[in-house]
Amino acid sequence: MTYENILTQSENGILTITVNRPEKLNALNKKTIEEAGTAVSGGEKDPAVKIIIITGAGTKAFIAGADISEFADYSITEAEQLSRHGHNVFNKIENCEKPVIAAVNGFALGGGCELAMACHIRIASDNAKFGQPEAKLGLIPGYGGTQRLTMLIGKSKAMELLMTTDMISAAEALTLGLINYVTTQEQLMTKCLEIAEKIKLQAPLAIAGIIRSANDFYNEEKNGYETEITEFGKCFSTDDFKEGSKAFLEKRKAMFKGK
Ligand code: COA
Repeated sequence: MTYENILTQSENGILTITVNRPEKLNALNKKTIEEAGTAVSGGEKDPAVKIIIITGAGTKAFIAGADISEFADYSITEAEQLSRHGHNVFNKIENCEKPVIAAVNGFALGGGCELAMACHIRIASDNAKFGQPEAKLGLIPGYGGTQRLTMLIGKSKAMELLMTTDMISAAEALTLGLINYVTTQEQLMTKCLEIAEKIKLQAPLAIAGIIRSANDFYNEEKNGYETEITEFGKCFSTDDFKEGSKAFLEKRKAMFKGK
């Protein structure tokens, strides 16, 4: 599949999706969001893909937000549609059955911070900056930022960052628990691949069960504890559980097939 605004590369079970509008600091226009959603869905369905990594082209930005030039004269209805579309795609990322890692290689502002927050794991290079500057534009975050920032770092600090529009460094994002690791720019992909390789050794259906269960902690319509009970039970019908427990008893490495 060819895309206009993203690049995809699939190698060794890892699909890397690169938002590719470096001259606009990878700002997310509608087309880019749509393409990112399609690429994630494609990776989720492709048996050859085990892990998805999302990053930005160039050395300056992961994603510097929604494309401000695109929505400047939107009506209320158009703005709601844009927001809903973004929510649908970012929910798809959050609920992807395969782990999605954000490799944050620079500015992660507005929609960029929101996209990173929809991923399961965030790793940033030391030049990365995070922030939700929407209030500066007379806006609020529209792709889940008010919710996911509150979920990830707590209401007090989320309120402060949303209302002051302050940008924070990767080091501060790490302290706040917004991201998992900070690396040098050169080491960013190495660290992402190191984590991806560790996850690749685990049983894929168990990983999908973990994603569903942990996500349901934050889902008002579901009881995450019940989801965990169901997902735990489901594991017992899988070949991977049989293989995993057999391999343990035989003191060898398990070979999972995702069945
Ligand atoms: N939407 C549209 N275009 C954007 C953009 C965005 N969110 N962020 C950056 N760009 C464009 C700039 O307009 C500029 O385009 P031009 O060269 O055609 O003028 C190009 O990307 C480079 O950005 P520039 O502002 O010149 O880089 P900088 O290093 O001076 O500043 C930022 C970097 C990230 C601080 C600054 O670009 C910025 O504040 N961006 C907007 C962030 C934002 O408010 N995001 C939330 C949107 S809801």
